[in-house]
Amino acid sequence: MIFAANFKTNHTRSVTRAYLEALTQKVVDGECKEDVYVFPPATALDRFETPITVGAQNAYPAHNGAYTGEIGVEQLDEFGIRTILIGHSERREILHEGQEEVAAKFSFFKEQGFEIIYCIGEPLEIREQGDKAVMEYLLAQFEGIDTTYDKLIIAYEPIWAIGTGRSATVAEIASTHQSLKQSVNKPLLYGGSAKPANIKEIIAIENVDGVLVGSASLEVESFYSMIAA
Ligand code: PGA
Repeated sequence: MIFAANFKTNHTRSVTRAYLEALTQKVVDGECKEDVYVFPPATALDRFETPITVGAQNAYPAHNGAYTGEIGVEQLDEFGIRTILIGHSERREILHEGQEEVAAKFSFFKEQGFEIIYCIGEPLEIREQGDKAVMEYLLAQFEGIDTTYDKLIIAYEPIWAIGTGRSATVAEIASTHQSLKQSVNKPLLYGGSAKPANIKEIIAIENVDGVLVGSASLEVESFYSMIAA
């Protein structure tokens, strides 16, 4: 199982270091066999002595150059970062990253050999139109994406479940994951209000290979309790 923590715009450099030290201790002491990832904000990236994979939440598709406010591969290389999140709904919705831009980013980081956690998810008005509309919407988010890429992990995150405390139901996750697996046979994470209280039922669902966790990952105790569950 894959357990990934997305800090978003939370935690400082020092808090992130303390978090990773504490989580590493728990993972090592607990002889944890799960694949654990942490995505801190860019300012907190560093080299860490840990079996946990530390990845970037975002980067610009360039090695370096004149892209004010962005970081590129040169800045990730400094810390040996080889994993990146692409297509998160907050970047699509709040930062207005369109599918073309997302696909260009994907192609670039694929060329660079990065492991990519590629996020897809539908808004509530599409969910309310039923399963067919949901699948059409989700499959459109694979436009321009090489779904055969060997270092690809998919994260299905319904937008209406992100940060709302309201996770998708077991039935919704089960049917969406089953349909997605038929189109893209890659490890498939669920994200959207995954938390200690619902983690057992989520990871027991067929075709769920792990979770991408926001809010409930911010405290080490909370995130580790999900891994240990
Ligand atoms: P959440 O966020 O766990 O706070 O719903 C998940 C995500 O956006 O990755």
